[in-house]
Amino acid sequence: MGTFAIQIAKWLGAEVTTTASPRGKGLVERLGADVVIDYTTQRFEDHVRDMDGVFDLLGGDTLTKSFSVVKPGAMVVSIAGMPEPATAQKDLKRGLGLTALFWLASFGLRRSAKRHNARYRYLFMHPSGAELAELARLIESGTLTPIIDRVFPFAEINDAFAYLETGRAKGKVIVTMV
Ligand SMILES: NC(=O)c1ccc[n+]([C@@H]2O[C@H](COP(=O)([O-])OP(=O)(O)OC[C@H]3O[C@@H](n4cnc5c(N)ncnc54)[C@H](OP(=O)(O)O)[C@@H]3O)[C@@H](O)[C@H]2O)c1
Repeated sequence: MGTFAIQIAKWLGAEVTTTASPRGKGLVERLGADVVIDYTTQRFEDHVRDMDGVFDLLGGDTLTKSFSVVKPGAMVVSIAGMPEPATAQKDLKRGLGLTALFWLASFGLRRSAKRHNARYRYLFMHPSGAELAELARLIESGTLTPIIDRVFPFAEINDAFAYLETGRAKGKVIVTMV
């Protein structure tokens, strides 16, 4: 996710600060990151402030700390935190039951966001032909480069998932049908 997020943010004209391990530093710099913070030795919240927004891929503590590094009123969007009420209403078009469940599940996060005068949204992956076509156009024109880490034959699909679950993949893990 990060390998695409950095490239898309650069395409949108953003200045990008990201965390990475020493193993990932070269890659994120090649993808366009302007500032790289080594999360194995540094706390990003000590080095970053007044950001216009955060895109969080980790959840947990990283997400909670992200609220402290944005400008007042700025948005923290996570794909790894807790869904919140707008996820149920706007993204999933569901009713009161799920809205109430997500309200409860995200209560702590929304409270942390409020304490820092930040806004919180959870982003659910959703099927969109139009957005996929736009991504395909950006890839074909060379604006975005998909990063492929490893390719597994279908017979080794279990190994592919096990590798993904290590959380160490650098880019996409591909399973081929042959
Ligand atoms: N909401 C949705 O619809 C949706 C859809 C798809 C995925 N997701 C979620 O999105 C998250 C990201 O997915 P992914 O496939 O990109 O992830 P991933 O495989 O978990 O991420 C791997 C990368 O994260 C780096 N990393 C690990 N810990 C880090 C830290 N503390 N700071 C910075 N980088 C760190 C690793 O680098 P090193 O090995 O160098 O440490 C590795 O390059 C997952 O939690 C996944 O469940 C959500």
